[in-house]
Amino acid sequence: MTIAEDLARTIIDPKSYAKRELADAAFARLRAEAPLDQAVLDEFDPFWVVTRHADIKEIERQPNIFHNGDKSTFLSPRDGVERVKALTGGEPNLIRSLVSVDGDEHKALRGVVFPHVTPRAIKPLEDQIRAIAREFVDHMLSFDGQCDFAADVAFLYPLRVIMTVLGVPQEDEPFMLKLTQELFNNADPELNRRRAELSPDEMLKSLWETTMELENYFAEVTKTFRAQPTGAINSLIANARIGDDYLNHRQLMGYYIIAATAGHDTTSNTTAGAMWALAERPELLKAMQDSPDRINAFVEESIRWEVPVKHFMRSAVEDCEIDGRQIRAGDWLMLSYQSANRDESVWADPFEFRIDREQNPQIAFGYGVHVCLGQHLARMEMRILWEELFKRLKTVELAGPGERTISNFVCGPKHVPIRFTVN
Ligand code: HEM
Repeated sequence: MTIAEDLARTIIDPKSYAKRELADAAFARLRAEAPLDQAVLDEFDPFWVVTRHADIKEIERQPNIFHNGDKSTFLSPRDGVERVKALTGGEPNLIRSLVSVDGDEHKALRGVVFPHVTPRAIKPLEDQIRAIAREFVDHMLSFDGQCDFAADVAFLYPLRVIMTVLGVPQEDEPFMLKLTQELFNNADPELNRRRAELSPDEMLKSLWETTMELENYFAEVTKTFRAQPTGAINSLIANARIGDDYLNHRQLMGYYIIAATAGHDTTSNTTAGAMWALAERPELLKAMQDSPDRINAFVEESIRWEVPVKHFMRSAVEDCEIDGRQIRAGDWLMLSYQSANRDESVWADPFEFRIDREQNPQIAFGYGVHVCLGQHLARMEMRILWEELFKRLKTVELAGPGERTISNFVCGPKHVPIRFTVN
């Protein structure tokens, strides 16, 4: 069975995620009528659309059968993939990061940073992160009752946290923010490199330019930290070895780039989305202030609610069956985290923001061997920000319409205008 073309076009259209109801409605129909079927569209290789929580887990539980790196790790038209291969000497992904490698290479690379981002390893950062959170709460309050929470707070606080952990100086933060936005928001004329609607050709060209700019920056980072190693994560990456050798150029660049981009944009989107939810629900802020012990539930629900990573792709290396469907070796699959986090068989009222869920097995960080490396840091920094903000905030409401980024990959709110009062 193939998915009806209008539905397939809706779920791939970056604009459907800017008007999130469009993507949500299409996925709700798919979950009900075609939870695991193929999208067949002229300009793409056919791909299965995996919409259910259980099916995504089953696929991610089998990394030997479902590979990340054999085909493009995010949805990309056939032409685009061919051009990427021409640029990279045959690899389907422009950037060779943890999410685009498999097996022993993935295990070895992940092992470089993993011990430094476990809950125990990041606990000592709590005070430093709280100081940063207070600084940004003060910054927000300096706007005197009205600000764009996305641009004025949510984009900046996780950026400062991750850059501190990576060892990137503060003066480079605007550069990192700009290049991250270019990388993830190519379809959005407000945020992409050209500040314009781009053809697929221009998109690839500007992605390439952004990647090269990042690589030039990180080439210097390698030199600096090899000359003088520190405990910063970029220094661990620069000095890491697999066997006797330093990471090769593509491994190094991929590592720096994923940590420096995924390390804040995702968390910024989630934070902005949570504030949007609060601004629309006066009772939510009151509930959080009455029950501060619900803070972890609030953070977990905001991650489920926002789902900043909309999808990743996998490809099958052998024939297998998932949920009664015959998947063939070579097939490409889209894991829709947006859909899985709205799965009616897992959550009552999936379209409601609720802090009283007894269980919240949100899967917005993915699952299995590729599960988000920064998940504990992301949770901790968001908890701390909300703890600090809930102490100060008395009321909050939308001061105008919020706006979401046009993207089908990593995205969320880009404007959340709010009006607020403080205690
Ligand atoms: C709310 C915030 C975040 C969300 C929702 C998120 C989501 C994700 C998702 C969906 C994946 C792919 C998982 C899979 O394939 O199963 C992932 C991987 C990854 N994330 Fe995050 N992320 C967040 C924050 C962060 C932070 C703060 C960092 C940096 C410290 C980070 C670094 C990474 C890395 C390096 C990977 C690749 C892991 C691998 O392939 O082994 N993420 N993330």
